[in-house]
Amino acid sequence: MTDLDAFIVGLPKAELHLHIEGSLEPELMFELARRNRVAIPFASVEAIRAAYAFSNLQDFLDIYYAGANVLRTEEDFRDLALAYFTRAAADGVAHAEIFFDPQTHTDRGIPFDVVMRGLLAGMADAEARFGLTSKLILCFLRHLDEDAAFATLAQAEKWFGQIAGVGLDSSEVGHPPAKFARVFAAAGAAGLKRVAHAGEEGPPAYIYEALDLLHIDRLDHGNRALEDAALVERLAREGMTLTVCPLSNLKLCVVKDLADHPIDRMLALGLAATINSDDPAYFGGYIAENYRAVAQARGLSRAALLRLARNSFTGSFLTEAEKAHHLASIDVYAATQG
Ligand code: ADE
Ligand code: ZN
Repeated sequence: MTDLDAFIVGLPKAELHLHIEGSLEPELMFELARRNRVAIPFASVEAIRAAYAFSNLQDFLDIYYAGANVLRTEEDFRDLALAYFTRAAADGVAHAEIFFDPQTHTDRGIPFDVVMRGLLAGMADAEARFGLTSKLILCFLRHLDEDAAFATLAQAEKWFGQIAGVGLDSSEVGHPPAKFARVFAAAGAAGLKRVAHAGEEGPPAYIYEALDLLHIDRLDHGNRALEDAALVERLAREGMTLTVCPLSNLKLCVVKDLADHPIDRMLALGLAATINSDDPAYFGGYIAENYRAVAQARGLSRAALLRLARNSFTGSFLTEAEKAHHLASIDVYAATQG
């Protein structure tokens, strides 16, 4: 392990942008297909990996939804979550706020409660085994309509005590945040936090909608904010956390090369950027690899890496006391790294 790798793995950090279905590794996909007697259109783990060449978000989503088809039982969701947390813990993640896409499962006849019970079991195991805490964020699929999102919110209601917030994901262009203004208002009225993917492929106008119509507490991706100086100034002034995903940006062609990645420009502009893995099984790396790859490509300083890790706790949905505890652990780490 290089000095940089060791520094990154040892750095206490939170992961704020992780789709649990996007952490389904080909090996587990194969195992679950066998266990559940589900046919998958791949002959081997290698064939699955070879299919992971995407030219845009939709290319990826088509494969991601097909892969999720092997997830059937509570045990499957528990195994999926625990596999992610095991990787995350090894990467030095102390806290994770994970997305799940219930509609991907309920539309296949898998009960909402099966998904919840499985994920919560994995989360409890992770806390017991690794001391890794986590929260759940329910994402609405934006390619579906708002009535479907309302139906999902109704199914979630009895679980509100176990769900930190709602999010918005899937195909961005053509599905602006405005389409979900009423369901986000209902979620907010129920006391849930609100986040949304915006500005990954969609224009800055979608980020304004996420802010003004969805009243988001955190912005997922947000790369295209950089096209609008007034928007950047506003995001910085409001202290809005951006959950940036470097390897995802590379694999989905949001950036041509990691050498062009704007992570350090975001920090220089005063944006509260964080580093996350998005769908690590599909994009070639978990959170430490995202830090490492972009640190190397952009020549990030240790100070920048510490700032990114601090931002991950400040932007989390932990209590102020919990945030202070994690920030203090970063201060101790920084002091020992001298
Ligand atoms: N679902 C899983 N990953 C996603 C991403 N990066 N953008 C939109 N929807 C997603
Ligand atoms: Zn995402």
